[in-house]
Amino acid sequence: MDTDPLAADARHPQLAFRRATPADHARVVGVIPTWWGMPTTTTLPLLLPRLFFQHFGDTSTIVDGADGSLAAFLIGFRSQSQPGVAYIHFVGVDPDLRRSGLARTLYERFFDEMRASGCVRVDAITGPVNHRSQEFHRALGFALSGDTEIDGVLAWRDYDGPGEHRVAFTRAL
Ligand SMILES: CC(C)(COP(=O)(O)OP(=O)(O)OC[C@H]1O[C@@H](n2cnc3c(N)ncnc32)[C@H](O)[C@@H]1OP(=O)(O)O)[C@@H](O)C(=O)NCCC(=O)NCCS
Repeated sequence: MDTDPLAADARHPQLAFRRATPADHARVVGVIPTWWGMPTTTTLPLLLPRLFFQHFGDTSTIVDGADGSLAAFLIGFRSQSQPGVAYIHFVGVDPDLRRSGLARTLYERFFDEMRASGCVRVDAITGPVNHRSQEFHRALGFALSGDTEIDGVLAWRDYDGPGEHRVAFTRAL
């Protein structure tokens, strides 16, 4: 029997929650094109290099399905430069498991951990075209910000370089 109190979550009895390790990197980046609805040639996985699994594994979570498949993941950390701030870099849920509250559960578990370690705020970003992510973050109580309307959405122009506009999310913990 699994005795790790972190492993189970009553909201999702069929799933197992655990820390991310470098061994998870290939599997996680492998699902990104499909889960994000991108072509297999997308460079999106390059935004999630192995270093996140090496250095932020103890604040990141992998969710395994009962059959051992990858059900979801959250890659997040506490800011080294701003210790009161936590940051969620990537979250993804298997398309077959969406709208069952799984990302909400991952976020709430992360909020609890970050609050316990002294954080008072959590930040994240997404692209202007990712309306699903914007709706999700709005539903979780995040404030959205930007300086320019891009594709009908308020986003920070050139936030991550020329043409790389981003919607910023922030929420008190
Ligand atoms: C965004 C994502 C993580 C949400 O995961 P999820 O497990 O389906 O989300 P939840 O079931 O916890 O949703 C919580 C709330 O967010 C909102 N929400 C989630 N998905 C939504 C959607 N597609 N449209 C509108 N609102 C949505 C709803 O208010 C929802 O509550 P409800 O189902 O009771 O109405 C998932 O769609 C995903 O993996 N998308 C691809 C990857 C991605 O874009 N990640 C975010 C950017 S890094």
